Amino acid sequence: MDAFKPHLSGLAAYPYRKVDAAIKLDQNESPWDLPEEMKNRALEKMRHSAWNRYPDMHAEGVRELVGRYLDWPADGIVVAPGSNFLVLALAEAARRILDTSPSFAFYEGAARLTGTPYKGVPLGPDFSLPVEGLREEMERGEPGVVFVATPHAPTGTTFPVPDVERIAEKARDRGWVLAIDEAYCQFSGTDLRPLARGNPHVVVLRTFSKAFGLGGVRAGFLLAVPDVAAKLQAMLPPFDVPVHTAAVLETVLEAPGHAERVARQLAVERDRVIAALSRHPTWKPHPSQANFFLVRTPDAETAWKSLLAKGILVRRQDHLPGLKGCLRVSVGTPAENDDFLAAAFAAAGE
Ligand SMILES: Cc1ncc(COP(=O)(O)O)c(C=O)c1O
Repeated sequence: MDAFKPHLSGLAAYPYRKVDAAIKLDQNESPWDLPEEMKNRALEKMRHSAWNRYPDMHAEGVRELVGRYLDWPADGIVVAPGSNFLVLALAEAARRILDTSPSFAFYEGAARLTGTPYKGVPLGPDFSLPVEGLREEMERGEPGVVFVATPHAPTGTTFPVPDVERIAEKARDRGWVLAIDEAYCQFSGTDLRPLARGNPHVVVLRTFSKAFGLGGVRAGFLLAVPDVAAKLQAMLPPFDVPVHTAAVLETVLEAPGHAERVARQLAVERDRVIAALSRHPTWKPHPSQANFFLVRTPDAETAWKSLLAKGILVRRQDHLPGLKGCLRVSVGTPAENDDFLAAAFAAAGE
């Protein structure tokens, strides 16, 4: 295909295969849909918006509400149809990309899509942040964007703030941008906004797909200093947050207590499931601060199939470095988690 740029020739599809199952614990979604009453409020807003008109050019109304919710100036906020679009914009902007390995697959995916040089630095012992390894890479050659998710995906580990600060220091010294992905921060109760405040070398990514329970709506945002936000905003197409999305986002941002309650409930469930699973004879769960956790099994394929045979879909992660035998399990409703535990213990004898 001569019309397309050569770096796109080997491009593979995002590594996700849809499988139908009664209990879906494979995408780190909220197991609960938005309550009917909140959906009705959003629908009412949609009814009163003009569908024939373009929406706000840059989601001004939503940015205003995000700003109020997170105490952040609206001109330092970029809203996009999923934080993945912000990852893509950062990758497009970056001269090079640095990441941890393993990591959230789309950081490398975005590097490939944009033809940006990419390097993953292996996580340290117990999935710790490879502070020295990242800093050494940042010392070498030209600067770029370094992605650090905390809680980390797919490990669920929350990195100590001083470790992330050491990467932020190096970013400032060497002209990098550190992108802190806080997609799962409501489940860990962590908050790294202070590192980005007034600092052009740190941006924070957040999503509505997890604690806010809006995976199907597709929306995420970035917090930065106004200059950096304006550059990234300029890289996105105009009018990319439609009126119906804006109506839903405004509804949840007017009642953020709902997402906070969901996150607290799921964190309690996560701890309960991990504690129960730690008594399993052969499966070893890893500690997690997210709404998912890794469990190491003697054989990921056998374990995955035995869960699916009981109607439970989880995600294999055993193809990733250091994750031999690992499955990633999202935290579901209490009943779903009970079914998962029963199936996991039943699989012990297999
Ligand atoms: C670390 C991380 N960041 C971002 C995302 C995706 O966010 P969004 O749905 O806003 O594109 C995910 C989804 O699984 C994730 O694990």
